[in-house]
Amino acid sequence: MTSLTLARPDDWHVHLRDGAGLASVVKFTAERFGRAIVMPNLKPPVATAAAAAAYRERILAALPPGSDFEPLMTLYLTATTTPEEIDRALALGFVHGVKLYPAGATTHSDAGVTDLSQVQEVLERMQAADLPLLVHGETPHPEVDVFDRETHFIDTVLAPLIERMPRLRVVFEHITTARAVEFVRSARAGVGATITPQHLLHNRNALFAGGLRPHYYCLPVLKRERDRAALIEAATGGDRRFFLGTDSAPHERGTKENACGCAGMFTAHAGIELYAEVFEAAGHLDRLEAFASHHGPDFYRLPRATRTVTLIKEPWTPPAGYAFGAGVVVPYRAGEQIGWRLATPALERP
Ligand code: DOR
Ligand code: ZN
Repeated sequence: MTSLTLARPDDWHVHLRDGAGLASVVKFTAERFGRAIVMPNLKPPVATAAAAAAYRERILAALPPGSDFEPLMTLYLTATTTPEEIDRALALGFVHGVKLYPAGATTHSDAGVTDLSQVQEVLERMQAADLPLLVHGETPHPEVDVFDRETHFIDTVLAPLIERMPRLRVVFEHITTARAVEFVRSARAGVGATITPQHLLHNRNALFAGGLRPHYYCLPVLKRERDRAALIEAATGGDRRFFLGTDSAPHERGTKENACGCAGMFTAHAGIELYAEVFEAAGHLDRLEAFASHHGPDFYRLPRATRTVTLIKEPWTPPAGYAFGAGVVVPYRAGEQIGWRLATPALERP
């Protein structure tokens, strides 16, 4: 039996939701990952230090008994965020980033920013304090083709921002195109990117395979095969700028299997196992640990994990659904095999 032991990974982009949904899903993340950057796109958004502190308490209260999982909190950047709010967030010690959602780009992004000039002072305070900006990198303009929105965002917003603020650390989240890979590789120091399992495992054909497949719909949407190839090369190539971020985003089944289905794929139940499949297929299982457990903490200036997790190469089949609050969430690969499973809860490295 093949097994693989690696430093306990972290998830640098996850949606844990709130209330009964939070209680249903947080265990999947906490079982595999030591820490996770928790997205602030609740309704209403987590836009203040006080809201981040309260949300963190709710997450801690929802953890399985004995779990030492550490939620790394983020603030939702709005047009009315003040530099003083950044100071208050920093003083808490557990806020590790500020999230930029271009208004209208994705789920619960209506409170986001329409023009970065609205938040220039906030960005300056973040730059001075070395607090990373986490970017949903898609233009929200409806006239731009949905498959071109990431590229359009690079050209019109991200490239100018990175030049204008030479010391602001920026995570380009869930990159999906060869162009984004190229952009990050050639960017100045202080720019990193997360990559999801679904963008490594699928191209946009998955959305239309034999019919419309709502459980493959996420934002940014899946792209072309050549984009997927570039993402695999980036993730498995050992470059420190790229690190793990599942973007696991649960939605109740009825809101996805719907005439207007929500964006988001639930992958937390196999959040490290799916990457093992990708790295194995690429012939680079030896580089999984760096991508999953080293590059992220190094970028965020946090210590690397001292515990380990072990994965075993043994197929298992996720169920048709997991409980999600009063409803059900359909997990990625429901009823189909996943090639790796988690062998142990996190252990001290011997
Ligand atoms: O697919 C997505 N789902 N993309 C996002 O940016 C948001 C997320 C969600 O919160 O459901
Ligand atoms: Zn997300």
